Amino acid sequence: MNKHTVTFLPDKVKVTVDAGVTLMTAAAEAGVEFEGPCGGRGVCGKCRMRIREGADQDWVLACQTEVNADLVVEIPQQEIYLSRKTALTQQDMDVEIDPGITRRTIQVQPPSIEHQVSDATRLLEALGEPANLKLGVLRALPGVLREARHLVTVVMHEKDVIAVEPGEHEREPLYGLAVDIGTTTVVGTLVNLTTGKNVAAASAGNTQNIFGADVISRIQHAAKGPKELEQLRRRVVQVINRLGEKLAHAAGIRTSSVYQAAVVCNTTMHHLFLGLDPRHLAPAPFTPVVTDLVTVEAGELGLNLCPHAPVHLLPNVAGYVGADTVGVILSTKLYDVDRRILAVDIGTNGEIVLALPGRMLTCSTAAGPAFEGAQIKCGMRAQAGAIEKVRIDEDQVTYEVIGDEPAKGICGSGLMDAISEMHRVGVIEANGRIVPPEKADHLPEFLRKRIHDRGANAYFVIATPEETGGPEVYLSQKDVRELQLAKGAIRAGIEVLLQKAGISSAELDEILLAGAFGSYIDKRSALGIGLLPAVDPGKIRAVGNAAGAGAMLALLSRRIRREAASIARTCEHMELSTVPEFQEAFIKHLNF
Ligand code: FES
Repeated sequence: MNKHTVTFLPDKVKVTVDAGVTLMTAAAEAGVEFEGPCGGRGVCGKCRMRIREGADQDWVLACQTEVNADLVVEIPQQEIYLSRKTALTQQDMDVEIDPGITRRTIQVQPPSIEHQVSDATRLLEALGEPANLKLGVLRALPGVLREARHLVTVVMHEKDVIAVEPGEHEREPLYGLAVDIGTTTVVGTLVNLTTGKNVAAASAGNTQNIFGADVISRIQHAAKGPKELEQLRRRVVQVINRLGEKLAHAAGIRTSSVYQAAVVCNTTMHHLFLGLDPRHLAPAPFTPVVTDLVTVEAGELGLNLCPHAPVHLLPNVAGYVGADTVGVILSTKLYDVDRRILAVDIGTNGEIVLALPGRMLTCSTAAGPAFEGAQIKCGMRAQAGAIEKVRIDEDQVTYEVIGDEPAKGICGSGLMDAISEMHRVGVIEANGRIVPPEKADHLPEFLRKRIHDRGANAYFVIATPEETGGPEVYLSQKDVRELQLAKGAIRAGIEVLLQKAGISSAELDEILLAGAFGSYIDKRSALGIGLLPAVDPGKIRAVGNAAGAGAMLALLSRRIRREAASIARTCEHMELSTVPEFQEAFIKHLNF
């Protein structure tokens, strides 16, 4: 069979593939990041790539384009989106530093005919305390001892010796890696375990996305067999390894000098990362394989850190409330409040926590990827060219675009602004219908001109072709329905938790918005579309990547890891599919 080489720009990653495979398959084999939320079915339009050399086409859908020549292909970059995710993570932690990792330099007795004991015994004698030596440490020990004339530095996790290094390094900093594996994005933060300082942070797309944008598609792929499960596991391990290398490079250290990791993620990502069968998460009763905190060695997972570095996966609460929610609870201290606080983390799923003195209730709803710009015809992530803010004034529609570029699409915050504004001025009725052009007489001319009919699907133009220099950016009736489903589900989840706790929204002292989306949305638009209950906007506070901050805390403190275990056990989880009030609330809150 003929082979062709595809070079992916901008990183110039090359891959050789059989003729006739799709560009998407080639990109997947090359391990490059790109979007493909519909899993290659050709319907989402998000896998666009640009052919620079080798074929007469220009922009193509990677999942629908065969490789029949050597090609040079450019993948649009997600840098702004990723740098926003990273920026939300850049903060130092306020916690007592007790990571459970220690380092000591010791002088080991050289072997002698008078003292005929093993290398391991002499090391333990010099250490002066009982300890377990890992197999990898034993394998390297004879060489390291002799190379360093028996002056070595021992790195320990609790009672385990996880590394023995030649020479004196006792005063050098220890490093750890906090990882937040999202369904869409993976964020890594390199942390100095001695000072607690955040050294560097970076993000990358979760390359499992070629198997679908949401957790259910990933579970379905994993359910095909062990090979497919391993395929998913490897992809996320590769992403973490790439982030680890990037961060270590930025800090001027080797990845093998990272001695501990803490990971937060939703329950599906948790299972896929560990290679656990996720099949029983999909149907009721949504049973996870494990919910407790799991600690595994980095080498066992294929992570290129110190091979015996402990990797702590924070505990899950339930099938759809994972360690990422535990991370949010940890970093916002919801486990110890004297007020009534609601926390909402909106990503591909929406996780909700209601914290009251001595009590925490949780639930999760399928928010759908609408808020991340997927399943919206002109939707895109928050990257250059995305409309992120929209206002409708008395005589004009204004918007702000990310980066110094004409509008190419609209991201989640722009979508919410646009729909809130369209509803406020009467372009959208309370039931979500876009007013048809022939019934729009009550609207001013500048708005009427923007409403069009495309068959049964009315749409409203946000950015005209004159403004974009290309296709118009619009919201269709179907897009509005997608947002209604997502916001209706989240709002209904909030209402169910409030009902179960026996309090009203007026009694809430604060609403915390976690995650990238929560940090960039306009509070008034969130209230305007009814995503959140009507509260004083001053009570709403964005808390950034609170899940990732939870991973950093767990990395730095054994007490926090114990706290995480207790949080997961004590949360009262509501499975919304079993709560009749949820359906009622959902129907009610579909409307604006
Ligand atoms: S259109 Fe190609 S992945 Fe969706």
